[in-house]
This record gives sequence, C-alpha cells and structure tokens, in this order.
Amino acid sequence: MAPSSSTRRAGAPLLLLLLCCLSTAVTSQSQSQSQSQTTVASSQAKTLYRMCRLLGFPPALAALAKAPDPCALPPTPSLTVACAAGQVTALSVLGDRRPDPVWRTALPSNFSADALFTTLTRLPALSRLELVALGLWGPLPGAKLLRLGALQALNLSANYLYGAVPEQVARMYSLQSLVLSGNWLNGTVPSLSGLAFLQEVDVGQNRLDGAFPEVGKAVARLVLAGNNFTGKIPAGVASLGQLRFLDVSRNRLEGWIPSAVFALPALRHINLSHNKLSGQLPASTACADTLEFVDVSANLLIGARPACMRSNSSARTVLDAGNCFRDAKLQRPSTYCSPGALAALLPPPQGSGAEQGGGKGGGVGMVLGIVGGVVAGALLIALVMVVVLRRARRQHPGVTVMALPKSPLIAPAKKAVGAKATTKLAQKIATPADKSKRINKFILHLL
Ligand SMILES: *[C@@H]1O[C@H](CO)[C@@H](O)[C@H](O)[C@H]1NC(C)=O
Ligand SMILES: *[C@@H]1O[C@H](CO)[C@@H](O)[C@H](O)[C@H]1NC(C)=O
Ligand SMILES: *[C@@H]1O[C@H](CO)[C@@H](O)[C@H](O)[C@H]1NC(C)=O
Ligand SMILES: *[C@@H]1O[C@H](CO)[C@@H](O)[C@H](O)[C@H]1NC(C)=O
Ligand SMILES: *[C@@H]1O[C@H](CO)[C@@H](O)[C@H](O)[C@H]1NC(C)=O
Ligand SMILES: *[C@@H]1O[C@H](CO)[C@@H](O)[C@H](O)[C@H]1NC(C)=O
Repeated sequence: MAPSSSTRRAGAPLLLLLLCCLSTAVTSQSQSQSQSQTTVASSQAKTLYRMCRLLGFPPALAALAKAPDPCALPPTPSLTVACAAGQVTALSVLGDRRPDPVWRTALPSNFSADALFTTLTRLPALSRLELVALGLWGPLPGAKLLRLGALQALNLSANYLYGAVPEQVARMYSLQSLVLSGNWLNGTVPSLSGLAFLQEVDVGQNRLDGAFPEVGKAVARLVLAGNNFTGKIPAGVASLGQLRFLDVSRNRLEGWIPSAVFALPALRHINLSHNKLSGQLPASTACADTLEFVDVSANLLIGARPACMRSNSSARTVLDAGNCFRDAKLQRPSTYCSPGALAALLPPPQGSGAEQGGGKGGGVGMVLGIVGGVVAGALLIALVMVVVLRRARRQHPGVTVMALPKSPLIAPAKKAVGAKATTKLAQKIATPADKSKRINKFILHLL
C-alpha cells in the first residue's frame, strides 16, 4: 500500500504543476494571438486612415477617420467596413462627388490612383471593394489591382477613371463582380472569358470601343450600355446559360441579332436599343418564359416581329419603336433600314418623290445597283488585266501566254518555255481557279 499512496502524494503537485504550466501556455498563447490581432487591426486602421487622406477626407469617410477601431463601425448607406479576425474583408464607400463634364468634383491634381491602390494592397483579406462617386481619376493601375488577390467584388462606378481597362483584370480569377460604370474609360475590354466565377460585368457609360467583350459562362448580368462598342453581337452570347440581365443599348453594334438569346432560360431583361442591329428576327424566335423586358427600339430591324414580341402583356413589356418593322407602330420607312454600303451603289434619287417610293422601288433599285456594281467591277478588272497583260507581253512574251491557262491556244507555247523561274512565275499567275479562268477567256476574246 505504501508505495501507491506515496506516488499519489508525489503525483498531486506534479499534476498541479503540469496543469498550471498548461494553462499559462494556453493563456499566453491566446494573449499573443489577441496581441497580434490588435497589431493587425491597428495596422489595418492605419491603412484605412491613409486611404482617407488619399481620398481627401470625403464626408462619407468622416466616421472612419475618427474611429479607433474601424471594424466596430456600424454600417451606414455611405460606409460599410467588414472584418474577419481583425482583417478588413469588405470596404464600401459611397461618396457624393458624382462626375460632371467639367471635372468639378474630381480629386485635386495631387491625387494618385496608383498610390490609392498601393495602399489598398495592405488590406490582403479584402474581398469586396466599392469606391463609388469619390472623384477618383487617372488610369486604373492594373498591377496593383492584381495584387488584391482575394477580391471578389470591385465597384468603382461614378468616378473619373480614364484610359484602358487594364489587361490584368483578365487574371483576377476570384472576381465575381466587376463594376466600372460611369467613368471615362476608353479603348477595348480585355477578354474576361477566363474568369470562371464572374457573374456581373458592368462597364456601362464609358468611352469603350472595339468588339463586344468576351465573358465567361457564369455571367448573369452584363451591361455595356452607353459606349462605342462595334461589330456584331457574338453568337456565343446565346450560350450564356445564366444570363438574366443584358443591356447593350446605345452602342454601335450591327448585324443580325443571334435570336436564340431571347430564349435563354434565365433571361428577364434584354435591352438592345439604340444600335445599328439589322435584318429580320426569324419567325421562329422564341422568348424565355421569364422574359419581362424586351427593348429592341431604335435599330435597323425589318420584316415582321416574331410572335412573342408582338404585344405587351402584364408579364412582358416589348419596346420596338424606331425600326422598320412592317407590322408595328412608330416605325421608320424601310429605306432607312437598308444597309448603307448597298445604298451607296444606288444612283442618286431623281426627284423628291423617289424616297416615297418606299420598299418595293427601293428593292428593285437595290438589285439593279448590285448587278450594275458587279458588272462595272468585272469590266474594270478586265480592263486592268488587259493593260497588264499587254504590258507584260511586250516585256516577256512567253509568260503572258503561260498565264492564260488550258486554252487550245496556249498548249504549244507551254512546251516552249524552259526556264524554271519563268515556270514558277507562270504557275503563280495561273493558279486561281475557275473564276479567273473564265475572266482570262473573256480577256482573250477582247484581245
Ligand atoms: C493635396 O494637397 C492638399 C493641399 O493642397 C493637401 O491638404 C492634401 O493632403 C494633399 N493630398 C495628398 C494625397 O497628398
Ligand atoms: C456599386 O456600389 C454602390 C455603393 O455601395 C452601390 O450603391 C451600387 O449599387 C453598386 N453597383 C452595382 C452595380 O453593384
Ligand atoms: C484614351 O483617352 C486618352 C485621353 O483621355 C487618350 O490619350 C488615349 O489615346 C485614349 N486611348 C484610346 C485607345 O482611345
Ligand atoms: C463614340 O465615338 C464618337 C466618334 O468616334 C464620339 O464622338 C463619341 O463621343 C463616342 N461616344 C462615346 C460614348 O464614347
Ligand atoms: C433601354 O435602354 C435605353 C437607353 O439606354 C433606355 O432609355 C430604356 O429605358 C431602356 N429600356 C428598358 C426597358 O429598360
Ligand atoms: C408596349 O407598350 C409601350 C408603351 O408602354 C409601347 O410603346 C409599345 O409599342 C408596346 N409594345 C407593343 C409590342 O405593342
């Protein structure tokens, strides 16, 4: 018995000591953790204060500039700061410096967008950044944006940012929402098709141009309105299965509308108005059941409207004025919608009455114009070739004959030509197929 009791007596203090050590270890660890948290928090607070200074202490940030702990600020409509483990994860500032054409509300000349975003890279956990109507100006520093590696939502709308949408945006792989609307951005938009999580793209009301931007399959809201985008709406848009809201109004888009876009299963709102979209919407065009707004007004559309766009209902509003639809109200004369390139081939109208002639006359005129143009073009080509061939014959009699393929006239001459170089040249000239053969025969006739 004695050994066991002595072990117990000796064991008790040992256990106590152990427990004591353990608990101090735990408390000191949690102390150091909270200490490091407060240092993180205070460094983040310093970063936020620096940001306030770079933004010229806007009223929206008054509370932030004074707050000892920004993470404890209650959210307001103009300012939200969210934190996790003492790190800022979301920052949303809605200012009152709405852009105006003469830059009255822009930040002063010592502002630097580069310095601002460099400062923001010291908030490495930032996943949501909204700096709206704060007077930011200058080009977007792409390299700095790319360093905001956790960023999921970026909203810089209603500022004075200009220059390109930086190519680095194409590599901000965690982005879900990109809102750059209402700035002075110009140039083209880089391909965003590699951004697999990108659901919202709003670059409306800028000075962007070039082709319709490429976006990834996750996009549900796409706004390009009020820019200078040109070219066609790519057929790929009709395979954006998540698309709910599409606004490409007020651009210079042209060509046929990929009509399958109206039937996208999630689509609720589509605005294609004020472009140069042309052609006819096929009668088979279907609309998604969810579709509430269709605006195709002020384009160059012709023919009859598809059944699902012929009337308004409580569930769907269709706006179609300012086209050349033959079965709708408030339409333009059909001559307005005929393509400009073909119209240019038409002879100038004889009298003021010619325009009234409308659809049928215009159609016949157009056909005549095309035929005339083709004939004139062929004659011109023939004439040029005659001149060229005549000149060539004067210089290298052999080659000229070689250039006229498979005509009974040439067969003997073919054997007569020996030099390799001459043969090569002859082949080059002789290669173009049937069409040019026919033209050559035609020229032979003329000669
Ligand atoms: C810009 O200049 C003003 C004074 O002219 C100054 O108060 C402000 O701190 C400067 N801003 C920056 C970001 O340096
Ligand atoms: C951009 O941020 C502002 C301020 O938070 C917000 O009011 C606005 O709705 C946002 N825009 C988009 C398109 O999310
Ligand atoms: C964009 O605008 C700036 C001036 O604001 C101009 O210098 C630049 O050439 C423009 N870039 C393009 C691609 O139009
Ligand atoms: C589009 O381009 C034209 C001419 O190139 C220019 O006058 C117009 O201001 C531009 N519009 C926008 C929204 O950038
Ligand atoms: C479509 O866009 C135009 C111009 O941007 C706008 O005036 C119109 O209200 C929009 N249509 C719908 C249905 O929202
Ligand atoms: C639907 O109603 C609007 C007015 O709210 C009208 O301008 C438009 O022409 C109507 N659309 C159709 C297809 O009747």
